[in-house]
Amino acid sequence: MISSTDTLIRAELISFARDPGNGDTPQPGSLEHYGDGLLWLKGQHIHAVGHFSEIAPSLPEGSHVLDYRDKLIMPGFIDTHVHYVQLDIMASYGRQLLDWLNDYTFPEECRFANHAHAEALSNAFLDEMLRAGTTSAQVFGSSHPGSVDAFFTACQKRQLRMLVGKVLMDRNGPEALMDGASGIADSERLIGDWHGNGRLGYSVTPRFAPTSTKTQMDAAGALLRNDSSLWLQTHLAENSGELDWVAELFPGSRDYLAVYEEAGLVGPRSTFAHGIHLTNGMRQRLADRGANVAFCPSSNLFLGSGLFDREAADQTGMAFTFASDIGAGTDLSGFATLKAAYQLGQLGGQPLTAWQGFYGLTLGNAKALSLDSYIGRLAPTLEADFIVIDTRATPLLSRRASHCTTLGERLFALMMLADDRAIYETWAGGQCQHRRDL
Ligand code: GUN
Ligand code: ZN
Repeated sequence: MISSTDTLIRAELISFARDPGNGDTPQPGSLEHYGDGLLWLKGQHIHAVGHFSEIAPSLPEGSHVLDYRDKLIMPGFIDTHVHYVQLDIMASYGRQLLDWLNDYTFPEECRFANHAHAEALSNAFLDEMLRAGTTSAQVFGSSHPGSVDAFFTACQKRQLRMLVGKVLMDRNGPEALMDGASGIADSERLIGDWHGNGRLGYSVTPRFAPTSTKTQMDAAGALLRNDSSLWLQTHLAENSGELDWVAELFPGSRDYLAVYEEAGLVGPRSTFAHGIHLTNGMRQRLADRGANVAFCPSSNLFLGSGLFDREAADQTGMAFTFASDIGAGTDLSGFATLKAAYQLGQLGGQPLTAWQGFYGLTLGNAKALSLDSYIGRLAPTLEADFIVIDTRATPLLSRRASHCTTLGERLFALMMLADDRAIYETWAGGQCQHRRDL
């Protein structure tokens, strides 16, 4: 039965039911495509998805249907690794990881001791994220607990499904960012206030092995052991200087991943950003624990960190996700992330298909974060988080689209040429949260 609070949208619909595989065409049954589809929302959730011609007869006469027949709807993009506190240092010139952290990142993160600044940046970041068509993310705050309160509060106002955590760091950074023993107590307080509160979840966030003592990492592991519904996010094997430093700091551990394993940080809800410089043995260990590695292609290019090996990930069964890693990443747009992933892939003889790319940004990322019963797909009972794409948003996109004959070509052209101008609307929790033309 339709009620007056329902929303009906007629548009081309695309979503994935499962991994389309690496082939030039999606595996049978993986792609759900309705050229003239109907998306039916009830409150915050999707009620029905299908061909307009099949659902329309069951609608009462005079039902109001939003006519987006010239637009393409897909699930909102998911970003598995991003630092909201680094929005204002995007595009800072000329450094690789460790110098970049010292020269730009740490000074910027010190500013988040100020609550008004944290509130302003939370809102600015979410505006940018929604403009780019991203509806959910796993996000680093700064080491100040207030930075996470401000961010969760801003997410709650917009009804977003979001994972966030306070950075844990108790050594090798500026004094103003060190949390010491209070880091774990502050994390516990934030978990109590926010984890499982509406659409919000907490991700325990040791920055990376060099900036946490063994004591702090063990305590982070204890948090995870106490509550298996918590997430974990950190960085792993991004840069060769970082690898040398970890080997020096943890001489008793057999490799970088072992440092995290020994602290109990590697599990099915753990995301390790980068994972560029791994052996197949390490990939296998990550696969065995069901952890995922966030591939952050624009960041890897920007910091000159190296080539992420998707083929080795697939061969060892290691799950990987797509992420922006702002502020080392150069773009919040999921399209830009896929474009950089394609270009990096070409350098290693591993081009990325549009099927893999858009599956990854939606259901693939949702599955890796254990959020696929809520988001990542246009399907009944899932939450109504989706984007309305204007595939002819610019003269160039329009020209290119005119020359496309297949859906695969259209999606690939979008992944290479589109940006936030192609995001006509972004919906989260059944509400339109961003409209391009306002
Ligand atoms: N490793 C430790 N901290 C960071 C960070 O803030 N950004 C990136 N890209 N790598 C890190
Ligand atoms: Zn990062």
